[in-house]
Amino acid sequence: MLDHVVNQTKEFLEKMPKSKRKKKGQFFTSVETARFMADMFDLDNCIGCVSVLDPGAGTGILSIAFLERLMSVTSDIKVSLTCYETDPEVLPVLKSNLEYAQNEYPKRIEYRVIEDDYILSQSNDFDENLLATDNPAKYDFVIANPPYLRVMRDHPAAMAMPKVVHGAPNLYFLFAAMSLFNLKTESEMVYIIPRSWTSGAYFKAFREYLLTEGKIEQIHLFVSRDKVFNTEEVLQETMILKVRRSDRKPEEVLITSSNSCNDFADITKLKVPYDAVVSGEDLYVYLPTSDEEIEVIKKINTYHTTLPDEGLKMKTGIVVDFRQWDELRKEPGDHILPLFYSQHIRDGRVNHQPSGKEFDWIIDEKPGLIQKNKNYVFIKRFTAKEERRRLQCGVYSPADFKEYKFIGTQNKINFVDRVDGSEMDTQTTYGVYALLNSTLFDMYYRILNGSTQVNSTEINNIPVPPANMIKKIGERILVTADLSTDNCDRIISEVAYV
Ligand SMILES: C[S@@+](CC[C@H](N)C(=O)[O-])C[C@H]1O[C@@H](n2cnc3c(N)ncnc32)[C@H](O)[C@@H]1O
Repeated sequence: MLDHVVNQTKEFLEKMPKSKRKKKGQFFTSVETARFMADMFDLDNCIGCVSVLDPGAGTGILSIAFLERLMSVTSDIKVSLTCYETDPEVLPVLKSNLEYAQNEYPKRIEYRVIEDDYILSQSNDFDENLLATDNPAKYDFVIANPPYLRVMRDHPAAMAMPKVVHGAPNLYFLFAAMSLFNLKTESEMVYIIPRSWTSGAYFKAFREYLLTEGKIEQIHLFVSRDKVFNTEEVLQETMILKVRRSDRKPEEVLITSSNSCNDFADITKLKVPYDAVVSGEDLYVYLPTSDEEIEVIKKINTYHTTLPDEGLKMKTGIVVDFRQWDELRKEPGDHILPLFYSQHIRDGRVNHQPSGKEFDWIIDEKPGLIQKNKNYVFIKRFTAKEERRRLQCGVYSPADFKEYKFIGTQNKINFVDRVDGSEMDTQTTYGVYALLNSTLFDMYYRILNGSTQVNSTEINNIPVPPANMIKKIGERILVTADLSTDNCDRIISEVAYV
C-alpha cells in the first residue's frame, strides 16, 4: 500500500511547486519515517475496531503506514480512520490513496475524509476554549505531521486555544495540543514536529498542557533535519514525539536517534529518567543522547536555585545598531563611549579592538542606550553551528576602560548583571564566568536548546550553585589567573560539583 502512496505523492510533488506548498505548511513525510512512526505505537492490546486520527493528512502516507502495520500485526482487527485535510489540490490524491487501502482490506478499513479545518471545525463557537469542549471526538491513536505555519495571535485557531498560546503561535503545536485532547485516556499519539517547543518562553503554555495531560514515552531525534523530508530541504531541526494521554509519569523516556530518515538501522537508543528529560519550573524538555549527557543533567540538577534567585541575571545587550545610526560613531571623542559587540569577546576577556563593524562607538546622550561601566560577564548570543562551544563568554573588567563612566552593548550579546543593577563583586563575576565557560554548562545548554542562539531566559532558568559558592569559585579562578575551560572545569568540580 505504501508503495502506491509514494508513487502518488511523487506525481503530486511534480505538479505542485514548493513555494505553493510552503504557504500551506505542507511538507510530506518520507516513507521510511512514516514506517518508523507507525512502528512506535504499542499495538499489543488492540481488539475489535480501533479509531485512528490523521489531522493534516496530505496524501495520507502516515495513515497508510499505520494501516499497513496494524493489518500485519493482527488479522481480525478493524479500523475506523479519520483524516482532516483542507488543501483542495491534495484531497483527490488522499481520497484515492485511502480508497486503494480499503480495496486491499475491504471489510476491515473504514475511513472518512473531513475537508475542513482540523481545529476550528471541532466547534461552532469561536469564543469557546476548544480544549474544554464537551463531548469532543476521541480516538485510540493519532498519527500526524502537522502544518508548520506561524500564525498571528489573533488567528481564530490561536484565539480558540488560549490555554496553550503564549506569544507567537505556530499551527504545529496547536495541532498537537488538540490531538492530545482528542485522545482517549491511556491512548497514544505519534507526532513529527520541530524541536523548538522543548525550550523557550513562547512554548511554555503548550509544554504545560502537553506534559500535564500527557506524558512523553519516546522521542526520536534526527541528526539533520533536511534528511527527514528527503527532497524537502526543511531546515528546522525536527523530532518524532510519542505521547500517552495519562496522569502517570513513566520512570523513563526512550530517546532514540538516527542520522538519516532513509536508514533507521543506525539508530541509537537510550533510556533516560523522566525527570532528567522534563525538568524545572518552565518544564523544559532535555534531549540527552548519551550516558555522559544524562550525567550532565543529573549534575546540574544537584542545585535548585537559579541566577535570579541568587540576585544575578542574564540580560540582553541594549543597542540595536541598525535602528540607532544617528547615535553611532566611527571614532572615539568627547561624549563618545565604547560600544561592545560579540567580536570583542575573546579568550575569556572583553577587549575593544576594532570589531570590523563600521561603528565601534556610541554617543552618551541617551540614557536608555547606555549602561554603567562596571563588572559584567558578556556572552555571545549567536554562534555558528560548526563552532565547538555554544556558550562563549568573557569577563568585562571596568578597569580596562576606566576613562568611561558608561558603555554601550549591542543586542547581539547578553550580559550577566545583578538583578537590581548594583555592581557584582569581582569574585562573583569570575565565578559566573567559570560556570558559563565550563564544559558542564556548555553541554547542558546544548542538550536543552538545539538552536545556535543563546537565550537569556533559558540561562536564567538553569540551576546554579548558591551565591556564596559562585563567589568561592571566582576567588579560586582569580588566584590561578587562568581563564581556560580546563581550569574552570577543574575549579567548579572541586567547589560545587564534587
Ligand atoms: C506538513 S503537511 C503533512 C502531510 C502528511 N501528513 C505527511 O506526513 O506527509 C500538513 C498538511 O496539513 C494540511 N493542513 C494545513 N492546515 C490545515 C488545517 N487547518 N486543517 C487540516 N489540514 C490542514 C496541509 O494542507 C498539509 O497537507
